[in-house]
Amino acid sequence: MLNSQRIFVEAISKYGAEHGIAVEIRAAGWLIVMQRGGTRHLAFGYDLGLNSAVAHRIANDKSATADVLTMSGVPCVPHALFLDPELNAYVPTQGSWQAMLTLLSQNPAGIAVKPNEGTSGKSVFLVSSAPGLELAVNRIFASHASLAISPYLEIEEEVRVVLLDDIPLLVYSKKRPSVIGDGKRSLLELALATLPADQRSAVLPEMFAELDRNALDAVVPEGARRVLNWRHNLESGARPLLLEHGEARDACVALAVRAAQAIGIRFASIDIVRVEGGWQVLEINSGVMTEALSKLHPELVHAAYRAALDKVFA
Ligand SMILES: Nc1ncnc2c1ncn2[C@@H]1O[C@H](COP(=O)(O)OP(=O)(O)O)[C@@H](O)[C@H]1O
Ligand SMILES: [Mg+2]
Repeated sequence: MLNSQRIFVEAISKYGAEHGIAVEIRAAGWLIVMQRGGTRHLAFGYDLGLNSAVAHRIANDKSATADVLTMSGVPCVPHALFLDPELNAYVPTQGSWQAMLTLLSQNPAGIAVKPNEGTSGKSVFLVSSAPGLELAVNRIFASHASLAISPYLEIEEEVRVVLLDDIPLLVYSKKRPSVIGDGKRSLLELALATLPADQRSAVLPEMFAELDRNALDAVVPEGARRVLNWRHNLESGARPLLLEHGEARDACVALAVRAAQAIGIRFASIDIVRVEGGWQVLEINSGVMTEALSKLHPELVHAAYRAALDKVFA
């Protein structure tokens, strides 16, 4: 079983034991058969079967999600869709390259280029030049059939809301790993000296992949804060921090509920970003992955899956 799937599988097994449900785990933990009396429910991947097929597909598609949210008046990060030229029959006759270059020139702060159906921050590139765009597009199309381009936004905070039928089960902020300069040590020296051991292997490889020698060796001015990864993915070393009750939490939950209703999804993780003080939806994940949070708050994660399973067996 993959490490990243353990808590989900563990939560289902525990629920089964408590409720007289036989749980059979197949396909290295990806397929779970739950049987109580004559009724059988299936779970696959991180999917408990609560979401409709179309809600699941739209959530998985960043550009379709942005389209539906925009149509519904829900503030969101725009995601323009481009298909791999291998799918030429479905691509506009003028091709995609010119339109991609236009997006680049319209966004002087850069653009985020990512697999349209990606997760976990894999192959998400920050691009600010035509050669950088060519490289990113090449890398994404090597293993994905489509990509999405958004304007690069200065994200002040990213919050995840896990919703079940419009009720928030988990609300947490994702804190990117960062260092504070001392006017003496370089970014790399500070990272090596201050990153907790359990974060190093997630953070350092991405720093080396993304920053050149000059950036790694530059001395960080005293008191200056530098994030070590521009992305908020927990898999890349960001840390979940539960959001206190208050204005920010209320705003995120309200926006998440509007987003979930717009695409008709019941159980989902909705990622919301604050840009220039305003909140907007970045993406919706129809699978609720909680590995990072479960290390800090296993009881909350179990309670969230328990609530979802109660709906499944209601
Ligand atoms: N347009 C953007 N501007 C700034 N940062 C972005 C943008 N899009 C994505 N990111 C950063 O990249 C991370 C991963 O992007 P996301 O769209 O969530 O893809 P994934 O499904 O791979 O997590 C986000 O958590 C965010 O930190
Ligand atoms: Mg994400």
